Amino acid sequence: MRQYVIAGNWKMNTVLSRAEELAQQIKQGITQGLHSGVSVIVFPPSVFIHPVAQHVQGTRVKVGAQNCSNEPYGAFTGEISADMITSVGGEYTLIGHSERRVIYKESNDVVAAKVKHVLTTSLTTVLCIGETLQERQSGQTWTVLQQQLDAVYTQIDKTSAEKIIIAYEPVWAIGTGVAATKEEAQEAHNFIRKHVGNYIDSTNTMILYGGSVTADNADQLLSQPDINGALIGGASLKAESFLSIIATANKLAG
Ligand code: PGA
Repeated sequence: MRQYVIAGNWKMNTVLSRAEELAQQIKQGITQGLHSGVSVIVFPPSVFIHPVAQHVQGTRVKVGAQNCSNEPYGAFTGEISADMITSVGGEYTLIGHSERRVIYKESNDVVAAKVKHVLTTSLTTVLCIGETLQERQSGQTWTVLQQQLDAVYTQIDKTSAEKIIIAYEPVWAIGTGVAATKEEAQEAHNFIRKHVGNYIDSTNTMILYGGSVTADNADQLLSQPDINGALIGGASLKAESFLSIIATANKLAG
């Protein structure tokens, strides 16, 4: 039986009423059946983690934050701590999403510090990595992925490393409508699994693909041997398309 993680990254979208409605629709959608091998996580804006978590409480839909501080608490205006996320019902956090890396200049060192800290808490880390278009075109994809992984994995012990979920999101595929082909994605996922294999037995490491995943391309992407799920932006904002991707995972989980 294959395992899948289907995760929705709502980014800076929705208002409270819409976030609650979406949570409700997803909850209702999965009452029709979620395969035991499929996990569903939604990442609403942090101010909506609490209401969304309340809506999906007692179901198999889990909730996470889109970002988390590397500090436990204190004078860090505007930051959100792991304990805060946990206290409002969050169980996961994205770290190093490309929008954090590119727009907010989070370096590999910053990302590593965040992962390192989050691993000391009860939250599960979803570490996002991926190359830009320029990096791909100049043949640097493998170097970039390697650097992004090494920055984190050299800092942590084996037991911690085994807990990380990775999301491979080529920056050029995010929000562009141009997803990686199944071959491109599989090649990158296989590279990532092999590289993480330098640190741990990565056979069962969950590696999600992100970047213009839709109800239409989910099947071919999720069928690839090294793709263990999807991190979905745009298509997770409509219950219909998100539920359709979950249905695809249900089918492929067997
Ligand atoms: P997208 O976003 O599905 O809208 O391309 C994916 C992501 O950024 O996680």
